[in-house]
Amino acid sequence: MSGLRAVLVGAGAMGRAWGRAVNDNPDVDLVGWVDVVEERAHEAVEALAAGSVAVEGDVGAALTSLSPDFVVDVSVPEAHYEVTATCLQKAVPVLGEKPMAATMEEARQLVELSEQCSTLFVVSQNRRYNAGLAAFRELVATRLGGVGQLNAEFYRAPHFGGFREEMESPLLLDMAIHTFDAARYVTGTDALSVACSEFNPPWSWYRGAASAVAEFEMTGGLRFSYQGSWCAEGFETSWDSAWRAVGPLGSALWDGAGDPVAEVRPDGCTSPGAARVEAPAVAIPGRGIAGSLADFVRALRTGEAPMGECHDNIRSLAMVFAALESSRTGQRVAVDA
Ligand SMILES: NC(=O)c1ccc[n+]([C@@H]2O[C@H](COP(=O)([O-])OP(=O)(O)OC[C@H]3O[C@@H](n4cnc5c(N)ncnc54)[C@H](O)[C@@H]3O)[C@@H](O)[C@H]2O)c1
Repeated sequence: MSGLRAVLVGAGAMGRAWGRAVNDNPDVDLVGWVDVVEERAHEAVEALAAGSVAVEGDVGAALTSLSPDFVVDVSVPEAHYEVTATCLQKAVPVLGEKPMAATMEEARQLVELSEQCSTLFVVSQNRRYNAGLAAFRELVATRLGGVGQLNAEFYRAPHFGGFREEMESPLLLDMAIHTFDAARYVTGTDALSVACSEFNPPWSWYRGAASAVAEFEMTGGLRFSYQGSWCAEGFETSWDSAWRAVGPLGSALWDGAGDPVAEVRPDGCTSPGAARVEAPAVAIPGRGIAGSLADFVRALRTGEAPMGECHDNIRSLAMVFAALESSRTGQRVAVDA
């Protein structure tokens, strides 16, 4: 064992996926797994067959007994504040699952704590680590002559069962953060204000609002519109949404699965007419959580801030909470990180 020592917190469905990602990363050794239901952590260790991994029921105890180099927090959103704060106060870096915290107030306190303790806190936005999205971003940045309008459509019909079908705002709280964060990533802009309406179609099998329409004003005058539903049967989009970006020289499309493409006015041509441009191949450090883990490890080794660093990620979280407030009040509201 010679890699960075990692402790996982949370042994649910996503925790197990993280277990595999940590185990597959040659720069990291999984030394401990924490879950308040210890039995779950024992079962997860056994299923992973990763050799000797200690099990604890409390993150504080794991920090003391295992001295990890970092913690991956895959606990439930309501526990993110407590788990992350405990680690940062002991100067142990944290790579946390989204959302950063259950409320904006808690998220702001964690960002402050990361500063006070000079300890890295990153939220893994795994959907950023997608070669298609990176290529779409490259097309938008280099071929459109700027971007003034961006649309994302997310239409799917999953039957999850469990908490998502019971919570108040499943689409906005549990899923839309990925799309909102991707909009910031693709355009390099931040949200200033939002008008949003969330609602639950009559045929929905969710208790809370499973559909939403939101329009964000972003920095630089860009408008980003989002339309989504978790109870939309037929013509489903990819989990990464279907995208269109429009700029003065043309438009770029990405269906969230294949290769992005643009139609732009050819170089030097002033009359209307568009030429098709294929997306360039863009290298990423790994796909999904493997990518965010690789980026985090690089950050620990080099000191360079990775994507999802908390000062940046809180701006994506703020888009979610502002959209919720707009829908509740019926007003356009400012997006304040
Ligand atoms: N990025 C993605 O694509 C994606 C997908 C699914 C879930 N997630 C996120 O991953 C996190 C976990 O989701 P899940 O589906 O695995 O949930 P889950 O409910 O299946 O598992 C969560 C686990 O955390 C444990 N836990 C709760 N409080 C704890 C605490 N204080 N200390 C230690 N363990 C604690 C629970 O006992 C449970 O075993 C959530 O934040 C969720 O939003 C992200």
